[in-house]
Amino acid sequence: MSNISPGAATSPAIGDAATGPAYPAYPARPAGDLRIDPQSLARLRTEFRSRGAAVHGPPAIQADIHAQLLNEALAQRESASWSLIANGCPGEISQHNLRAYLGPHARNFLAAPEVLENLRQVTGYRLVPSWSASCYTYYDGPGQHMGEHCDKEEACRIALLVYLQTIWAPGTQPSTGLQLHVFRSDNAASGLVLRITALSNRIVFLNGAEQAHLRPALAPGEHMTLLAGCYQLSP
Ligand SMILES: [Fe+2]
Repeated sequence: MSNISPGAATSPAIGDAATGPAYPAYPARPAGDLRIDPQSLARLRTEFRSRGAAVHGPPAIQADIHAQLLNEALAQRESASWSLIANGCPGEISQHNLRAYLGPHARNFLAAPEVLENLRQVTGYRLVPSWSASCYTYYDGPGQHMGEHCDKEEACRIALLVYLQTIWAPGTQPSTGLQLHVFRSDNAASGLVLRITALSNRIVFLNGAEQAHLRPALAPGEHMTLLAGCYQLSP
């Protein structure tokens, strides 16, 4: 990124799992649960309102649900995926990645009452899943990326990104390819407010319809699998 505004320097990248509060052990709960303690919820609300993105975890979701989602994502990749490659012609977003249809575990999670309630608490909106815009997404090889864009407001007023698995080369740090760059307003010239490193079992609440965002190109040895949940305003 060559156009990072001076303000961006005061918005450090969210780097690794070393920071953040300790999380209590999860009791046995039904699938679909997203338990966030009140203190974290208050922080997420503040982050979302000030920057348009709020980051939770890792861990964000309990281990068995995380495993269910990851297993489903890897299975869908084999049976129900398609490649998206676009070079950024006028009216087109530059991108190179793989998408797959959701399975029942992803649908259960995205529509779970506790997930919807946490979304309401963090964003202030009553939301319902937007199934046509939600998918599993995979960045698998060097150069794979997502160009600058805003999400479509009708289909994806708010995005909930669930990072299921991220891998980088041994002995290195994650490159910018494993980051989500979020800008203050609807274009990159408005200034970078946040760089969020994708870590396994981390979630992001994103004001993606109003704030531009992008993913730089992946470096060799890096892989990322995520559940990209989109939400519409509740009718
Ligand atoms: Fe997006």
